[in-house]
Amino acid sequence: MESFFICGGNRLEGELSIQTSKNAVLPILAGCILCDKDIILHKFPKYEDTLTMLNILEDLGAKTFIYDDCVKIQCDSISKSEIPVSLASKIRSSIFSLGAILSRFKKAKVPYPGGCAIGARPIDLHIKGLKQLGAKIVDKHGYLYCDGTNMKSGVVSIDFPSVGATENIMLASVFLKGTTKIINCAREPEIVDLANFLNSLGAKISGAGNSIIEIEGVTKLDGGEYTPITDRITTGTYVLATLICGGDVTLSGVNCEHISSLIHNLKNNCCKLDIKGDKLRVIANKRPKAISKIETQPYPGFPTDLQPQIMAMLSVARGTSVVVENLFESRFKHVSELKKLGADILVNDKTAIIKGKSMLYGANVVCQDLRGGAGLVLAGLVAKGYTTVDDVFHIDRGYYHMEKDLQKLGANIERITKA
Ligand code: EPZ
Repeated sequence: MESFFICGGNRLEGELSIQTSKNAVLPILAGCILCDKDIILHKFPKYEDTLTMLNILEDLGAKTFIYDDCVKIQCDSISKSEIPVSLASKIRSSIFSLGAILSRFKKAKVPYPGGCAIGARPIDLHIKGLKQLGAKIVDKHGYLYCDGTNMKSGVVSIDFPSVGATENIMLASVFLKGTTKIINCAREPEIVDLANFLNSLGAKISGAGNSIIEIEGVTKLDGGEYTPITDRITTGTYVLATLICGGDVTLSGVNCEHISSLIHNLKNNCCKLDIKGDKLRVIANKRPKAISKIETQPYPGFPTDLQPQIMAMLSVARGTSVVVENLFESRFKHVSELKKLGADILVNDKTAIIKGKSMLYGANVVCQDLRGGAGLVLAGLVAKGYTTVDDVFHIDRGYYHMEKDLQKLGANIERITKA
């Protein structure tokens, strides 16, 4: 089992370029299923989840070649319309392939997806949306058996702006003759990036980033090359790491619009945020201040994927803060671990009350999920003494060698293997 061994107390100084977005690349890889030509994705991030998604494409018949920092996907040999549970159960984004496989083969057999254990994570909105397009879906023994022969363009209304359901329905609509309108879409930047990627191959998608998206059906997609956006959650993670440790860090490849809610919440919070083009400089020399209330919301609200990380920062802030997790019903698993480091946090249902402490103390903690693990690392960076963070395989799903990034900024952190 791999862990991070951290000696807390170092300030963070230096420059770091932000990697490509996990949650943009995953649906884009699903989008490759729509194409029967070669696709090259530049700045391909080798997170565990993106590598698993490549394995799913290979299992469907695609050939993939990873060069230096890009991946070439030969899609002409994709011939299967079902995904094995061994791969699907590893990641949430396997379910995004359903819409794409239906578009290409008019049938699909897809198991229930995996992903972080941060709640029940149902897929009812995906199924309801695809059925509104005429898909016949039978849910049997953990598999979805889908028949898309009678799918037609039309209006699809999603009960909640689900990121994955929006992406799935978009992918299912690309080849449907006529115009499909999706209402109450999620507005995340990753959805805009998926639409931009598909349009670069010849799709006709408009409105992505708003709550109504229109897709005009086309007959086929060309091959092409694409560079996905950078990861706004990684950016936010390192901004908060700098606040929690103190320091002077410049992040490059940043789109500050994508983290506007975080920036808004950090205004006047003992740090200076300097934005110049795609560079964001964070200067933090004082103990952070409490934030009266943070509520996670769909984009452009405060992202649920930064909730554990800001909770870590608030654990050492001056004053008492409230964090409300509105998106996932089991996304406070990092709280018990933060308390092992001395954090003072009281949880009642979806609300956490955090009384900032002047000091946390090193301890042994265990990752429960990807972003919760990132939060534990941030807390370990400031805790006095030694902290070990176990089960960092959770973190590797969405950060590429996080310890190397932090070492570059002066953190005292090592990856170790425990017996
Ligand atoms: C995506 O998950 C992201 N994952 C998540 O990031 C992110 O936390 C989430 O969007 C919200 O922003 C990827 O993009 C791979 P949702 P997704 O559908 O699509 C409920 C990370 O750490 N819901 O927008 O699964 C659901 O339970 C991961 O990178 C239904 O009820 O999220 C949740 O309460 C974690 N039925 C809410 O909607 C459905 O059919 C939002 O979920 C689908 C979702």
